[in-house]
Amino acid sequence: MTLQTRTETLSSQGGSPALLKLRGISKRYGDLAAVEPLDLDIFPRDFVAILGPSGCGKTTLLRIIGGFVAPTSGTVEIDGRDVTRIGPEQRPTNTVFQGYGLFPHMTVRQNVGYGLRLQKKAKAEIDDRVADALRQSRLTEFADRSVTALSGGQQQRVALARALILRPKVLLLDEPLAALDLKLRHVMQDELRRLHQEFGGTFVFVTHDQGEALSLANRIAVMNAGRIEQEGDAETIYAAPTTRFVATFIGDANLLPGERKAGEVKLAAGPVFADAGPDGAVTAVVRPKSVRLLGSGEKSDVEIEGAVAAAVYLGDHIKCTVGIPGGHDVIVHLDAAAAPRPVAGERVRLGWALRQHRVVSA
Ligand SMILES: Nc1ncnc2c1ncn2[C@@H]1O[C@H](COP(=O)(O)OP(=O)(O)OP(=O)(O)O)[C@@H](O)[C@H]1O
Ligand SMILES: [Mg+2]
Repeated sequence: MTLQTRTETLSSQGGSPALLKLRGISKRYGDLAAVEPLDLDIFPRDFVAILGPSGCGKTTLLRIIGGFVAPTSGTVEIDGRDVTRIGPEQRPTNTVFQGYGLFPHMTVRQNVGYGLRLQKKAKAEIDDRVADALRQSRLTEFADRSVTALSGGQQQRVALARALILRPKVLLLDEPLAALDLKLRHVMQDELRRLHQEFGGTFVFVTHDQGEALSLANRIAVMNAGRIEQEGDAETIYAAPTTRFVATFIGDANLLPGERKAGEVKLAAGPVFADAGPDGAVTAVVRPKSVRLLGSGEKSDVEIEGAVAAAVYLGDHIKCTVGIPGGHDVIVHLDAAAAPRPVAGERVRLGWALRQHRVVSA
């Protein structure tokens, strides 16, 4: 429902219509609901991350979009056309699978040109487009090598070039960087960003890595147990998580239990503040960098007294762990230059403004 509201809001603001529309999409395998009925809109030129833990249904959802898995219910619409019952090769999508699926007996050039040969394009056109794609993906010098004689990052670029040469409206990528080591992954993140900009298409990629989702995607759909728990721009997902799962899956978060009654929340650690919403158990979510150590006499919307358990210097910040009433710890990230640095055992007062936390149902 919320997603539909967003679509209406966007179009009323003059935004372009959705390129990809999923409506009521679900997938069951016997008793297992791999994907629960969900709606999702993806807009032209979006770089979307489908983010979630292992087994939550990310690959299944991507394969439904690409036409490799038939949904149990719902419709897939791309560019105004219902493609639910259309095979992958007839869809304006292209998929890069995990592990890349390159043809090992072919050279780089042959791999990249494969799709165009299948489409029976003229040789001159194939040669031109392959040369362009190789240049764009920085593979020209490897053109006549066997793909088995390439590094992981180079193979990754061949897989991307092979998909992009067909100019798909939507490029689908399943954990595209998972096989690479950390350093190469960062290099390839820059490559993907560049390709997305130069190519000007719409990219949808699956990842379980929240850092990768935040650094690449302009929009993130967070999945949990077959559901999209929250979908929105990267900043909103980070700053304003709407569920406890999203808050903990993306970035560090302090979770403070409490109870809401008649528009007032009382945290187990003591503070009471106004907060509209239904009665019941709640969790206040506050990021470590939003919590401050209050000076004497300093006031804040939310104040909690505690004792420093540890203060560790981590180069760019000091990670301070503070024990608070109820047996919980609150993590505080202090400026590395903070002086005086808190010491273990010291009594402190923690504070933050109401706008710096989110109250979600427990
Ligand atoms: N063909 C299938 N038959 C039966 N169950 C399946 C099939 N494909 C996937 N599943 C199940 O559906 C659920 C979702 O699987 P999916 O591959 O979509 O997860 P995922 O989010 O991509 O996980 P990962 O991050 O580990 O790749 C899992 O419980 C999986 O075991
Ligand atoms: Mg998967």
